[in-house]
Amino acid sequence: MSSKPIISIRGLEKTFPSDRGPVRAVNKINLDVAENEFVVLLGPSGCGKTTTLRCVAGLEKPTGGSIDIAGELVNSAETRHFVPPEKRNIGMVFQSYAVWPHLNVYQNVALPLTDGRERLPKKQVRERVMESLELVQLDELETRPVTDLSGGQQQRVALARAIVTKPMVLLMDEPLSNLDARLREEMRLELKKIATTAGVTSLYVTHDQAEALSLGDRVCVMNEGEIQQVGSPEEVYGNPPNHFVADFVGDMNFIKGKVSGPGQIDSPLGIRSHDVPSNSQVGSEVTLAIRPQFLDLSLDLGQNSQSPEGTVVIKTYLGDAVLYEVDVSGVTLIARLPGESHFNVGQRVTVVLPSDHWHIFP
Ligand SMILES: Nc1ncnc2c1ncn2[C@@H]1O[C@H](COP(=O)(O)OP(=O)(O)O)[C@@H](O)[C@H]1O
Ligand SMILES: [Mg+2]
Repeated sequence: MSSKPIISIRGLEKTFPSDRGPVRAVNKINLDVAENEFVVLLGPSGCGKTTTLRCVAGLEKPTGGSIDIAGELVNSAETRHFVPPEKRNIGMVFQSYAVWPHLNVYQNVALPLTDGRERLPKKQVRERVMESLELVQLDELETRPVTDLSGGQQQRVALARAIVTKPMVLLMDEPLSNLDARLREEMRLELKKIATTAGVTSLYVTHDQAEALSLGDRVCVMNEGEIQQVGSPEEVYGNPPNHFVADFVGDMNFIKGKVSGPGQIDSPLGIRSHDVPSNSQVGSEVTLAIRPQFLDLSLDLGQNSQSPEGTVVIKTYLGDAVLYEVDVSGVTLIARLPGESHFNVGQRVTVVLPSDHWHIFP
């Protein structure tokens, strides 16, 4: 990263006490978010995403490490330095819209400017609120009670309220999760546009990999309190460093195998040539992985290790694609083919395996 990061997380650790003993929610993570960058924390439920975000917000006191926002140290566990949330230069949006039901749209968005730390003159409040409402396309609904709004509109109010103070940093925790699928996809695109237009640095939490890939300038994949990979969506999807990321992001076929010689792996697919992990010796167990769209099926039988034979066991029609589950010597492979392909359940087919696009994990 060329410019100085706006959010800088160093050795962040958070342990919660519990009946079963201490729970390590976040385990020594490091992450930088550059100015105007949109970074997504992605991972399964319970992996520590919310805790990380809440530490950045100042809603949680870390048990280890430090956090800087815009060059200012806001938290150091070591020196017990702690800047409270209202003094951090941040805006926040949560899954629950958290709008005030007794206030209208305008009043909800104005709240941080009228009741917050920074109290602005009325005219300036009006300018800021209308600017925010325009950005989320609610400027025509300013006098509407929020209770008359749809879920998507209420979330826009929450977003407008989060950016009305013009924070350096916008923190969002699964903000689209309560919306139905269609609206969620629409709002995804819009959210990114709003963050870009507002010129804010964003840290966004989701467990939804499609959301992460489409929103993030970079995606930070977490599991069990630790970062597994940080990279562009293309890097995370195309070059997962381990089994966890390969499995969590996108669909993947996994096949167990054994190194049977230099650059050779024996598996139910036959003996194939692959680059094997550098530290694995003959006999080491490895996992072969390949995405369903890289497989092809053919009716030309006559098998070899590049294209073993199998039987179609399940066919799932998706419109633009068809997923075929093919049993090859007891291993199920999924092939994703164009929607107009027409193999049938029970049919013997050759699975055409490419020579590249494979991932090999120890
Ligand atoms: N206030 C708390 N007290 C005790 N345990 C907590 C608390 N908050 C979170 N945890 C635990 O920390 C872990 C991470 O939680 P969280 O950060 O909410 O995960 P995520 O947002 O990725 O689903 C979980 O095991 C969760 O049960
Ligand atoms: Mg969470």
